[in-house]
Amino acid sequence: MATALILGLRCCILACIAVGMLLAEHLQNAVNETWAWLLQQWWFNSVYFETVWAPVCFTVLLVPMYRLIDSIPLFDRYKIDKKHRFIPFTALEMLKTGVFYMAPLALLDTFMVKHYKGCGIDPMVWKIKRQTWVQTTRALPAEPPSVALIPIHIVCALVVFDMFFFLVHYSLHKNAWLYKTFHALHHDHATVDIHVTNQLTVVERIVLILSANEGLKIVNSHPLTRAIYVPIFLWLLMENHCVYDWPWGLDKLVPFGLMGGPARHFAHHVQGSGNYAPFFTYLDKLVKRTNGHSRKIGS
Ligand SMILES: *[C@@H]1O[C@H](CO)[C@@H](O)[C@H](O)[C@H]1NC(C)=O
Ligand SMILES: [Zn+2]
Repeated sequence: MATALILGLRCCILACIAVGMLLAEHLQNAVNETWAWLLQQWWFNSVYFETVWAPVCFTVLLVPMYRLIDSIPLFDRYKIDKKHRFIPFTALEMLKTGVFYMAPLALLDTFMVKHYKGCGIDPMVWKIKRQTWVQTTRALPAEPPSVALIPIHIVCALVVFDMFFFLVHYSLHKNAWLYKTFHALHHDHATVDIHVTNQLTVVERIVLILSANEGLKIVNSHPLTRAIYVPIFLWLLMENHCVYDWPWGLDKLVPFGLMGGPARHFAHHVQGSGNYAPFFTYLDKLVKRTNGHSRKIGS
């Protein structure tokens, strides 16, 4: 049953990719038009766009989505923790995390010039921007991104983020002082829950955002790709803490068990160790193998 579902879904995904390739020109046209429209919006040109965009995706899209999922009794059977109930986000909680999240980033936005490399922006524009102290607009490329590069860049940026954050997360668990100071808060909960996604120390959250940003920068992603990346990235982080083990989850859809998924991250929270990588599994497998190997040599 489950395998038939996965097989069917994989065929659907492949069919969608094939149709997307056939309609590439139309899709590119839509991307071009979207980009031309975005370039004319003051809010998209603002240096604060990305800083505000993440909480907007979180509050307007993702929290209501998980609330809806929780209200459907049919899905209860997929709960990892059967007793779990969705606790609504209070306005105060949203406001508090919103402010804590945005304040340090808004500071960076105001005083640092944003460089979107590899999209054909004249470096002269950055030089001119650097002559003023306070930034209000970001230098955006005139050209839209290539439609094929959008998903490729998103996947690559996720892989790079996963690698960076694996190293950080692993260190946070292996050093007692680091753990206590920066990461214990994320593990301080009665049950795992999407609220835990956001339960981060300021330093930890900044490292997380910088790692995500670095992933996007390394692949020279276009600002439109960056904007599309945000809800996907947040959704993946929330999935990890959503307490549902979907039979159609990415951990089952993506072949070779490449993706970790909610059940593995739940295990990390229950055991307090293992499954350190946020999205993929290969690094934890590598560590496990290396540790097993050195233990064998040691004995
Ligand atoms: C989209 O824009 C690019 C760059 O401006 C242009 O080269 C390309 O022909 C456009 N494609 C479509 C399908 O409109
Ligand atoms: Zn942890």
